Amino acid sequence: MISNKKKLNEKGSVSTTYANRFFTTPVPRFRIPNEGLDADVVYQLIHDELNIDGNPALNLATFVTTWMEPQAEKLIAETLNKNLVDQDEYPQTGKIQERVINMLARLYHAPESREYIGTATIGSSEAIMLGLLAHKWSWRKRRKKQGKTIHNPNMVIGADVHVVWEKFARYFDVEMRIIPMQKNRFTITPEEVRQRIDENTICVGVVMGTTFTGQLDPIQEINTMLEEVEKEKGWHIPIHVDGASGGFILPFLYPDFKWDFRLSHVHSINVSGHKYGLVYPGVGWLIMRDKTDLPEDLIFYVNYLGSQEATYTLNFSRGSAMMIAQYYNLLRLGKEGYRSIMENSLENARYLASKLKKIRNLKLVNEDIKLPILALMAKDKNTFTVYQLSDKLRERGWIVPAYSLPANAEEVDVLRIVIKENFSHDMADMLVEDMNRFTKDFSGEKKIKTTDDHSSQIHKHIC
Ligand SMILES: Cc1ncc(COP(=O)(O)O)c(C=O)c1O
Repeated sequence: MISNKKKLNEKGSVSTTYANRFFTTPVPRFRIPNEGLDADVVYQLIHDELNIDGNPALNLATFVTTWMEPQAEKLIAETLNKNLVDQDEYPQTGKIQERVINMLARLYHAPESREYIGTATIGSSEAIMLGLLAHKWSWRKRRKKQGKTIHNPNMVIGADVHVVWEKFARYFDVEMRIIPMQKNRFTITPEEVRQRIDENTICVGVVMGTTFTGQLDPIQEINTMLEEVEKEKGWHIPIHVDGASGGFILPFLYPDFKWDFRLSHVHSINVSGHKYGLVYPGVGWLIMRDKTDLPEDLIFYVNYLGSQEATYTLNFSRGSAMMIAQYYNLLRLGKEGYRSIMENSLENARYLASKLKKIRNLKLVNEDIKLPILALMAKDKNTFTVYQLSDKLRERGWIVPAYSLPANAEEVDVLRIVIKENFSHDMADMLVEDMNRFTKDFSGEKKIKTTDDHSSQIHKHIC
């Protein structure tokens, strides 16, 4: 029996994939080869080249899911060839999308009496663009109805927002009114929002789990302030909640905490299915409070796929596998399953935080950890910087990014650690051990051997 990788060549002798000449000659990189290569060879070449990438399991930089159950992976493999937009050809896939939208709308307490509306997207970025476009259109409609001008729309956001908010402002011509951070405050405040809103504000952006520090903007206070403004001035200014990471954590960990459609001004929410929705990259969701929040003239109807189909997306074709994997997770885990995974992640994050804050020169940016995301800073940059520590950790395989915070907190450099479901208590101990060693090396401290160290070394040798 000749294995997959061993084939008989023309002369009848065995040739293995690694005996192929493409392992000793350069593979075309920037030009399409005139003739194709053997499938096994191409597979092996690309597979091996990708080994240079970081290990996803040690990638504590990304919010994005790096592990899923084999059954989910099987479903993903089975549905890779289905285009989500082909709803006429794949009606069940379309129905599954509808079901997930309904599940999320209910999870976020959309009013039961209304019609749920939303869409699957590539991720939160597309969902945010679509949500904000809907607000721009609704604002224009309101203004036209009142006989007012439709020039100079603005939106009020904190410097703590993800870059996609700024992209939206530039691509779709909306003035950004940015609330700067401060050296010791990395979220926005209702007072700062109030100073910037006016009748041309299409919406206020509120982040549930900022990209920079994982903190929550004070959404309830902002909502109360907007209610007061509405009473005073008659402006109904909606909130778009960026729940990219928090949207799949808050409902399970803090079900009584009101951050969603229970708040009167929250009209749209985005969430990344591929973050704490626990699906591999390629799925996000936009959920609107109700049908009236999505102006009809933003919806396009096309008939060239066999029936009249409504689309509200930036992309047309897209894979359906990750959307289906989202449905798998929702059924498989249920609320209870999501809750226990989020509890574990939070517990491990808090455990890790309790250890890391004891490391000399390291300090937690925020002691009140609500989401499983940690941000740390170096107390004294002369001892070591977070950039040096990040580089050292990378040598061991850990991927922990270091970066500076946005305006006006640019001089604050942080190290961010995102704890996901596959990060165990043991891994936390290993990370702490490495961080301890590196920070001691930086501080020039030589570890003094104790009897305990000695015995643990002997133990290691006899294991
Ligand atoms: C708060 C926030 N919003 C939006 C995004 C963009 O999300 P996506 O990568 O799903 O497009 C991120 C990504 O990290 C994020 O943290």
